[in-house]
Amino acid sequence: MPIIVRMKHRQLGKANFNVSEIGYGAWGIGGTMWIGASDKESLAALERAIQLGVNFIDTALVYGNGHSEELVGRVIAGSSQKVYVATKVPPKNRIWPAPPGVGIEEAFPRDYIVRSTEESLNNLGLDVIDLLQFHVWSPEWTGRDEWKRAFEDLKSQGKVRSFGISINNHQPDSALSIIETGLIDAVQVIYNIFDQSPERNLFPACLKHNIGVLARVPLDEGALAGLIMENTVFPEGDFRSHYFRGDRKKQVVERVGALVRDLGLKDASQLPAIAIRFCLSHPAVSTVIPGMRSIGSVEGNVMASGQGPLPAPTLEVLRRHAWDRDFYK
Ligand SMILES: NC(=O)c1ccc[n+]([C@@H]2O[C@H](COP(=O)([O-])OP(=O)(O)OC[C@H]3O[C@@H](n4cnc5c(N)ncnc54)[C@H](OP(=O)(O)O)[C@@H]3O)[C@@H](O)[C@H]2O)c1
Repeated sequence: MPIIVRMKHRQLGKANFNVSEIGYGAWGIGGTMWIGASDKESLAALERAIQLGVNFIDTALVYGNGHSEELVGRVIAGSSQKVYVATKVPPKNRIWPAPPGVGIEEAFPRDYIVRSTEESLNNLGLDVIDLLQFHVWSPEWTGRDEWKRAFEDLKSQGKVRSFGISINNHQPDSALSIIETGLIDAVQVIYNIFDQSPERNLFPACLKHNIGVLARVPLDEGALAGLIMENTVFPEGDFRSHYFRGDRKKQVVERVGALVRDLGLKDASQLPAIAIRFCLSHPAVSTVIPGMRSIGSVEGNVMASGQGPLPAPTLEVLRRHAWDRDFYK
């Protein structure tokens, strides 16, 4: 049966890009921290996403040490449609998240930012990056000049169109001070049924200052896709064996089971669509960027666009399922 997608678009803050409500999260296709997808499968999923109206891709230099960027570059080179590309400068000290007390000169010195951007441009095969993000952020750096000078240089050289930060896991308020500077165009933040905390302070600030929002990890690394069972085993070296370690799989099964029950669903198969629509129900969100290495995930997720916000009673149920924890630690 042909798939009929009603992909809608939203403005990405001051960057003013008209981005698809469903974007593409390209961490998994990098292949080093997520084990499993072949390049052939990843390229097919990316191509299918663009074919079905996805026009925004989030990647990073460190995803597969440039491999994700290379795959993205290959696909957009063969596409006749405009596809917005966001990538990220990793901290020079390779420390995630940015710990307090570490100076910006260790994480984002000016020359390093420029070099890293040039490496990304080379991997992507592009002349200009639509959105360049810092891959971590500490509010202690907001008043420093290094990053501001790098942004000015990259913009005046025509290498970057807009700037943003990818906010440390579960710390949405750490971006409030940089938003106030007016010097960034977008933020990327964990926002899903379990972590609803950006709604408190971050989203109102983004709406006030016209800052675009990329909602990342909408499926809680697969938990909200109903993929985690108590006996799920990840391949050796896969980051999810850390994320879902110990009794965490059991906790997830209980939480997801309660969610399915409270929503009155038969099983978890409709959960990914509801989880993505949950993100899109907030007006501050510009695009949701699920990871989707398979065509099946792409075809399922694009259908969540154009449906409007979830009904108020459903959102009311979802409010009760917020879950305060940090599995990345
Ligand atoms: N610090 C940072 O800046 C940071 C950190 C984390 C993530 N991110 C960004 O956010 C993006 C999204 O996060 P994520 O990829 O880590 O996790 P996610 O989107 O929460 O979950 C991805 C998982 O959900 C599965 N999935 C997706 N759609 C599905 C569907 N319709 N049905 C069943 N399963 C489905 C995927 O399967 P398949 O892949 O097998 O299709 C994959 O296993 C990343 O790709 C990256 O771009 C940024």
